[in-house]
Amino acid sequence: MGWQRSFLGFFDARFDTDTGRKLVEKQVFKRLPPHTGWLHVFASLSLFLFISQTVTGILLLMYYRPTPEAAHKSIQYLTGEVQFGWLYRQVHAWGATLMIMALLLHMCRTYFMGAYKKPRELTWVTGVLLFIVTITFGFTGYLLPWNQIAFWATTVGTESAAKVPFIGHWLQYFLRGGDVVAGETLSRFFVVHVIILPWVLTGLVGLHLFLMRLNNLSSSKRVDESEEFPPETGIPFFPVHAAKEVSVLILLVAVLVTLSVLLPWEIGEPADPLSTPSHIKPEWYFLPSYQLLKYFEGPYGAFIGIIACTVPFVLLIVWPFVDRGKERHPRKRPLAVSIGLVGLVGALFLGWLGHVSETDINVFGQRYHIDLLGWPHKLADGEEGGGHDGAGGESAPGEH
Ligand code: HEM
Repeated sequence: MGWQRSFLGFFDARFDTDTGRKLVEKQVFKRLPPHTGWLHVFASLSLFLFISQTVTGILLLMYYRPTPEAAHKSIQYLTGEVQFGWLYRQVHAWGATLMIMALLLHMCRTYFMGAYKKPRELTWVTGVLLFIVTITFGFTGYLLPWNQIAFWATTVGTESAAKVPFIGHWLQYFLRGGDVVAGETLSRFFVVHVIILPWVLTGLVGLHLFLMRLNNLSSSKRVDESEEFPPETGIPFFPVHAAKEVSVLILLVAVLVTLSVLLPWEIGEPADPLSTPSHIKPEWYFLPSYQLLKYFEGPYGAFIGIIACTVPFVLLIVWPFVDRGKERHPRKRPLAVSIGLVGLVGALFLGWLGHVSETDINVFGQRYHIDLLGWPHKLADGEEGGGHDGAGGESAPGEH
């Protein structure tokens, strides 16, 4: 096309475009290791969701006001009056949940396929940091609508910080910007959420992708074997792998919009520091830590509880340096795979306990009250379960 030739000609006449073109072509037409498939799409889904969060976040910022008096009203205005405001608020809220899910799946994929092994230890370490930054995004963003649940969940969440040994009270004060959750906390969380974390995440994603490019994608061969593969056995990035990524991406957008329309996040009642709602629970990705902390009471117990919640993250960071085995294929790493599965099932179970604790559930027609610690208590017909929440755990399973 004439206009295209003259458009590109403009740049050709001024820059060394050949080098750039070759670089782009090298990336687009590169061959990926033969085992690259559908399980490799979660990384680009995470990247897409990060971009979507940035775009919808900027749109939200045009109307959001970070003060206790105006925050809740500004979200109400955005949802009720601004064109498509409800949609990008929902896409942002659901996008956060889906991004954490995509990250967990990407993490599982790289863990079980042994992709964290030499020479990709630092790719993994930057990945774990990315995960921690992403859940911190969730924690700080949750408070911004300044509704009852957000206010009280943040009060409870920052109370846990006080349990950190030696520096606990200082840490809690630092997080809240005072003794209680108030306007200062909102300002702090706002700044961290919209300025500090986006830059940290952008830098870390850049480093992560740079490291990934430097070492290319891992193969399923042993660490001490060459990762070279005959080019004809490799999967072409374009169009084969790119087509897989685009099709899953279309599905993701459909899921995101469907969830936004059918299961919208409520704005809730404005925060009221004088009235505590019952049963405040954090977001699903904090439920395992929330439940674990409940089993540790008293000054020493709380200390052990905080350590118990921190150890899994420290273990994740150092894992590539702990697991020095040479094999990558999951079938040849029974111990690492078992440890991963136990960790995964344990976290899911604790999360589920956190979710059902202090509620009544129905199992095959029999109603049970699940207490604070997750013990079930049989309920008689018409009985309400509220009275069984013994935090001391003195009642055995199946009692009552
Ligand atoms: C915003 C967050 C993240 C983004 C955008 C991202 C993006 C990517 C991309 C595009 C790749 C190459 C494709 C692939 O291997 O599937 C990759 C590779 C990798 N990522 Fe991530 N990632 C993120 C978080 C994480 C996390 C949380 C971990 C683990 C803790 C992780 C560990 C790895 C590893 C070990 C590789 C190398 C895989 C291989 O060579 O086969 N990443 N990442």
